Amino acid sequence: MCGIVGYIGNKQALPIVIEGIKRLEYRGYDSSGIAIINSDDELVIHKKEGKIVELEQSIPKGVNFEAHLGIAHTRWATHGKPTTLNAHPHIDCTGKIAVVHNGIIENYKILRKKLEEEGHTFTSDTDTEVIAHLIEQFYVQCKDMHTAIRMMLKQVEGTLGIAAINLDIPDKLYAAKRGSPLIIGVGEGQNFIASDAAALVVHTKSVIYLQDDETVEISSNDFTIKSIADDEVQREIIKINWDISMIDKGEYDFFMQKEIFEQPTTISNAFRGRIMDMYNTSRLGGISLSIDEMNNIRNICIVACGTSWHAGLVGQYLIEEIAKVPVRVEYASEFRYRDPILGLETLVIVISQSGETADTLAALREARARGTKVMGITNVVGSSIARETDFGSYIHAGAEIGVASTKAFTSQITVLFLLALLLGRMRIVSPQDGAQYIKEIKSIPGKVGEILNMNDEIRAVAEKYKNSTNALYLGRGINYPVALEGALKLKEISYIHAEGYPAAEMKHGPIALIDGNMPVIVVAPDDFVYGKILNNMEEVKARKGKIIAIANEPSNGLEDLADDIIFIPRTLPALTPLLTVIPLQLFAYHVAVLRGLDVDQPRNLAKSVTVE
Ligand code: G6P
Repeated sequence: MCGIVGYIGNKQALPIVIEGIKRLEYRGYDSSGIAIINSDDELVIHKKEGKIVELEQSIPKGVNFEAHLGIAHTRWATHGKPTTLNAHPHIDCTGKIAVVHNGIIENYKILRKKLEEEGHTFTSDTDTEVIAHLIEQFYVQCKDMHTAIRMMLKQVEGTLGIAAINLDIPDKLYAAKRGSPLIIGVGEGQNFIASDAAALVVHTKSVIYLQDDETVEISSNDFTIKSIADDEVQREIIKINWDISMIDKGEYDFFMQKEIFEQPTTISNAFRGRIMDMYNTSRLGGISLSIDEMNNIRNICIVACGTSWHAGLVGQYLIEEIAKVPVRVEYASEFRYRDPILGLETLVIVISQSGETADTLAALREARARGTKVMGITNVVGSSIARETDFGSYIHAGAEIGVASTKAFTSQITVLFLLALLLGRMRIVSPQDGAQYIKEIKSIPGKVGEILNMNDEIRAVAEKYKNSTNALYLGRGINYPVALEGALKLKEISYIHAEGYPAAEMKHGPIALIDGNMPVIVVAPDDFVYGKILNNMEEVKARKGKIIAIANEPSNGLEDLADDIIFIPRTLPALTPLLTVIPLQLFAYHVAVLRGLDVDQPRNLAKSVTVE
């Protein structure tokens, strides 16, 4: 949610910071802006409503942009409309201090009123502008920018990642963090600040994750990190193992398309090295519980948002079915504000692709504050959720850039399956059944590949339904969350209203919507409820609904009921979501492309929701 990049060094700052925010455009893209200190010692600011390409195209001619220090921002509006005026950077009254900000300043109204009473003039509707004026106020008093930022930090409540520059100090870049990610990129003769490693990997793989309530002063060759108590802090430089192909579209038109097609590899990466063939079980190295503690888990509470929440629902079916441990799944935004009942024998699992979702982070803090052990299932190494959980497992899906999550979903399910197998083998799963599960998970990447080969067929189905205004997704059992996920994918990127339902619930309401224009996508693998779901299709057919079935083979009259059928390979019922979701992802993708929409940057959404 919003992206920050800052640069100081021997190269030209402007192209580097613009290229950097383009890499972060998936985090927010309603307006953008830059601030540089040029070779004539001027602070130059340029901002623009719309996408970054519009910012680039509108860069004024005849202005000196020769600079070695600059900051940039791509915005997802929270406070104030997405206008050029509200775009970042924001400046103070002296016009010398420029600030870009991710997060929300919760007490900004009080601070703004106070600052206005003290004579400060505000020019935007944003919460961010108070940061610029507060830094100004303290800088005037102490004449030290690093101290002024620290003092600002003591005044503000809420979340922030900021980068700032000051015309009085043209050889320093500043940043501060609380609750919103911020990374220092360490280079040679140049250093960076960014809200996301994706902006840095083309320049350096040496990074430092700033911690909450830390500030940093950065020059071309050095940096000093301080705590809010003004103590100097030493932080380890971490090598990130991303390569540039992870953040490039390569041969694909969209990141989402690339990420859908990566799934045979990403699913393999999620289970590679985590299977113990000799014992017919799995091994999740990150789990630091003793055998006794593992045996003492009596119930599990999974907490997540969005697609990760859907993966959690699949996890509920997996863990209950395989390990017979009771599981409940909660929205993080609800969990954090109700009074959840967590026992001593409860394990809380938080699932988050980004590892930065504000509600999930708050939920994990609440669970830990109650003394409950919290496991994290995340993708982004070193993310806030990865750091704050007691232990966890990475899904190793690589950078996911498309706003609509795809490969993270299947990798999350893979890790939840491994956990279910581990807990199951410690409880009731026989070696023979364990071996069967292992054999089957190993076959999944190949089967996903077979479905991806049906891309053209799925595009042809999308062509038929691309002008629909509504769609209903039905599934039963472990494929009910897949129906929810399929509907979410379509909503997110094609703006077609779509609902997911447990198939039998259809008759308690949604059936009223079915007519000859309503596509009903039915997830119907050949499991023990297949017969039941055929009955649900009959009910749709009787109301002239159009049925698209995801099934294993023509049987029991399916061909007479369904208008279109996408046949997928067979697997164990527990693993079907890893296959059934693939055609739904491709269907949503093709519908959106055929409608001429920007698949990777759908309107109003953001990849990582770091505000409440
Ligand atoms: C946003 C994204 C979704 C994602 C959700 C949870 O809404 O657009 O794709 O599923 O956040 O994100 P997380 O990073 O916690 O999995």
